[in-house]
Amino acid sequence: MVKKLFVETLGCAMNSRDSEHMIAQLREKDGYETTSDFKEADLILINTCSVREKPVSKLFSELGIFNKKKKADAKIGVCGCTASHLGEEIIKRAPYVNFVLGARNVSKISEVLHKDKAVEIDINYDESEFAFDDFRTSPYKAFINISMGCDKSCTYCIVPKTRGDEISIPMNLIIDESRRAVNNGAKEIFLLGQNVNNYGRRFSGGHEKSNFTKLLQELSEIQNLQRIRFTSPHPFHMDDEFIEEFASNPKICKSMHMPLQSGSTKVLKDMKRGYSKEWFLNRVKKLRSECPEVSISTDIIVAFPGESDEDFEDTLDVMNQVRFNQIFSFKYSARPQTEAEHFTNTVDADIASARLTKLQNIHTDILDEINATSLGKTYRVYFQDLIQDYFVSGRSDDNIVIKVKGSDELLGEFRDVKITSIGRTILTGEIVA
Ligand code: SAH
Ligand code: SF4
Ligand code: F3S
Repeated sequence: MVKKLFVETLGCAMNSRDSEHMIAQLREKDGYETTSDFKEADLILINTCSVREKPVSKLFSELGIFNKKKKADAKIGVCGCTASHLGEEIIKRAPYVNFVLGARNVSKISEVLHKDKAVEIDINYDESEFAFDDFRTSPYKAFINISMGCDKSCTYCIVPKTRGDEISIPMNLIIDESRRAVNNGAKEIFLLGQNVNNYGRRFSGGHEKSNFTKLLQELSEIQNLQRIRFTSPHPFHMDDEFIEEFASNPKICKSMHMPLQSGSTKVLKDMKRGYSKEWFLNRVKKLRSECPEVSISTDIIVAFPGESDEDFEDTLDVMNQVRFNQIFSFKYSARPQTEAEHFTNTVDADIASARLTKLQNIHTDILDEINATSLGKTYRVYFQDLIQDYFVSGRSDDNIVIKVKGSDELLGEFRDVKITSIGRTILTGEIVA
């Protein structure tokens, strides 16, 4: 009998890639097949995120439900960033958990599976961790790691503690993996790392230094590869060379994630982000002058300790100047093992909520104005998903989600689509070519 595997993936795209790798390992080495129903699973994995407190507290209530309703002899494994930072404590708080596997250790999934109560959370590495399996949940788009860990020390962020030091993956491995993905049918690759444009500064040994611009140039040589996306670049490392390559290379999708975090130079300093409000605006200006069609998304944290009304106004000012196409906004959440955890000048919870609401409302108005200009325009869409009511969705080069009436023969195909109606998260159109 085939054994069944249920995987729940939280957090960022790196976690999605880690889940793909674990699924592949468990299929090859242990004969598992995935299921979307945890009640019939023989193994339940939760691939966790630690970046804010809420998902961590949710983890334990969710584990309780899994334990109550799972098959009697099913195993439960906790993987990912919360596994890295809580380690053994997870088994203390939820003794029915069979193993704990950190974000940096996902290649060991088959080993821990056979050792009851194993806790594998070492953040040291060896190069064997770079070789991720070719299994992918989508045949159309391939997530490809280009680095692991993070060398920055943003004072609010737990990621360097859960994923360890930043190491670039050798370029030949990335190119080979990308080639294989394209040969298997993916027309788009999505490069992943916490600071992708810091690529090439540190390898694990013996490799010549390189940089992200060079990697992009090499990858765009791959025949049949049509689109390259990446996340996250860091505003500090957005040099002119990188922006010019981004603008002039036709295979690079014209959508840039520029995680602002705060528009106040004082708060950015307290966050140890390494750039000022002026630098960020200067990079946006350079980017827009080289590439007027670019869409820009961002991450913003409100109510970081010490953020005054004026500081918050600076964030709104940047938002009004840049007019981001998409924002991911969060209230600051104090995290263990970070510098800011010890900051005492915290912002009142009510003020934090009011700031988040204000920021999001202003952005909604901006987005409505941006979206209205899309009506009647034509976009090249790469279709990747079937959605209900006989619609197929995909993204434009500049990352707008667009749906058209259609069925699976459109999946993996490019079409020109004229926008006929506007929604906040998805536009609707009809195929014109
Ligand atoms: N490497 C990426 C970020 C990864 S974490 C970068 O530097 O942009 C994803 C996002 O979570 C961050 O951009 C930040 O906006 C948010 N985040 C991280 N730590 C947080 C915290 N302690 N509280 C609230 N949001 C946080
Ligand atoms: Fe966290 Fe900063 Fe690293 Fe991003 S760059 S992962 S925010 S420490
Ligand atoms: Fe979360 Fe870890 Fe990604 S903390 S955001 S899953 S790197």
